[in-house]
Parts: sequence; structure tokens; C-alpha cells
Amino acid sequence: MSAPVASSGVRLLHLSDLHCGRPFVGAHVDAALALAERGRWDAIILSGDVSQRARVAEFTAARAILDRLGAVAPLLVVPGNHDAAWWRAPFGLGDPARVHERYRAFITPDLEPVLRVPGVTVVGMNSAGGTAPHTLTWYPRDWRVKGGVTAAQLAVARARLAAAPPGDLRVLVLHHNVVRGRLSRRWGLARPEATLDALAAMAPDVVCGGHDHEERTELVVRPAGRFLVSCANTLSSRMRGRRPSSCNVIEADAGTVTVRAWVYNGGAFHPGPQAATLSRALRGADAVPAPLNPCAPAPILG
Ligand SMILES: [Fe+2]
Ligand SMILES: [Fe+2]
Repeated sequence: MSAPVASSGVRLLHLSDLHCGRPFVGAHVDAALALAERGRWDAIILSGDVSQRARVAEFTAARAILDRLGAVAPLLVVPGNHDAAWWRAPFGLGDPARVHERYRAFITPDLEPVLRVPGVTVVGMNSAGGTAPHTLTWYPRDWRVKGGVTAAQLAVARARLAAAPPGDLRVLVLHHNVVRGRLSRRWGLARPEATLDALAAMAPDVVCGGHDHEERTELVVRPAGRFLVSCANTLSSRMRGRRPSSCNVIEADAGTVTVRAWVYNGGAFHPGPQAATLSRALRGADAVPAPLNPCAPAPILG
């Protein structure tokens, strides 16, 4: 499907993994707040793990940070696995509402919020259901960490994204990384390939996440469509490979959308070399090149 696009540019700040609690790094968060407060943003996205152990004191600290971000621009936040008190309803036993009771009380009652501002539609998904059946794999070490989304969640997100005005930048947000980590070598989601196909079929421009604690900006091409991944690094002390913290900036105009990682150095975040750009001229399966034909010229990804 072709997509008319907004003529004015949009700019989003994507942060992730505050981990209020023991891994919290005030200098990183202060720098992120300074970046937020000095810039012009159409929206700010925070893709989960605002706490370390889903404790009241951690959520209280996170709430204060969210209030400052929310004073700058409309803010959308989704829960991460560290925000889910899985032990309150383990493996689907007990009242599942208790898993996010504190998150709802301190952060937001809506686990799958939608944010609509001029030129942008942002749809949140809750991939952190605790030890819910749809997140389980055969590996016990995954049980408190791996994320997942159900077919019902995917259907809701698809409908919400489809309701976006035609020219809007279309952004999906879920906590877990949708592509395999380069350093961790780990997928964030159970059934990752099927989920990638389902996400691509929704024709988003950008899919935001965190969780892997390694920044990632890349083009994903699936049979049903293509999109940019914006996986933001953590603002905590838990970066992988002794690399610096970073956050992502998403900028779009009528023709393209670009995701760039901004890297922490000298007390501030600066534009880094890692970035990916996608043409907004086509969406969905129309944007996917046909299989290579040896008699035809190679397709060019716009
Ligand atoms: Fe995290
Ligand atoms: Fe996480």
C-alpha cells in the first residue's frame, strides 16, 4: 500500500531501561533529561524496565523522571520484564492483575497505551507478561526474562495502527528486542520469527524496544513488509561489553525516517555513527522487493 506522508518533520526521543534501583546511573539519566529538555520533540518514548525489582521506591523514583519527561513532550511508556512482579502470579497461577499492580499505580494504568500527536501515531504493546504461558520456552533461564505477545495483542495493535491518519509516522513500541542481539546473541521474544512477520504485516515505520542493553538501528525486511528497528541501549550501569550508554533519536520528514543512536560521552549524549534510514514512499508488502531474478537488475531499497 502506498502512503501519503506528512509534509512537516517529526522528531521523537527514544529512551529505555532506566532500571531505577541498584543499577541506576544518575549521570546518564541527567544527560537524557537535559537532551529532552533542550530539544524539540513531538513525543518521547520509554520502552520499559523503569525499575529493577518492581519495588515501590523504584517506581517512585521512576515516576519523578517520567514527570519531567512528560513536561517536555507527550510521553508513552510500556512495561519491561523488570517492572513485572511475576512472583505474584507465577506461570499463570493466581490473579494476573497483581503482576503489574505497582506499575499501574505508579507509572500508568494502561499497559498498552496509544499516543496520537500531529504527524505521529505511537502504539504500545506489553511484551512483559511475567511468566505467562505465551512467554515460556523450554529453557528455564528464559522464564523471567523472555517476552512475548499473543495473537489477540497483535490484532489490537494492528487495528490501532491501521486507524492512524494516512500521513502519520507509524511507530510500535514493546520492551523486548525484536531482532537478535549482536553481543548477547539472544532473541527478546518467544517465537521471534513469527512475531517479526506479524509486526511487519502491520506496516509500521519504526518498531521501538530495549531490553537487550545494546543499541540497534537497522532495516528489517520480511515478506509482509519492512520497518526500522530502534532498539535503545540502557541508561543504567548494565550496558553490554563495557560500551557507553546511549539513546535513540527518530527523525522523519515527508520522504524518509531515520533512527540514530546518540552516545553518552563527557556528561552528555551526542549523535553517534550508528543509524538507519527508510523511505516512506511505500509501506507493507509493496515496499518489499521481488525475489532476485538473474535476468533483471537488482532491486534498490529506497
Ligand atoms: Fe533492562
Ligand atoms: Fe528487560
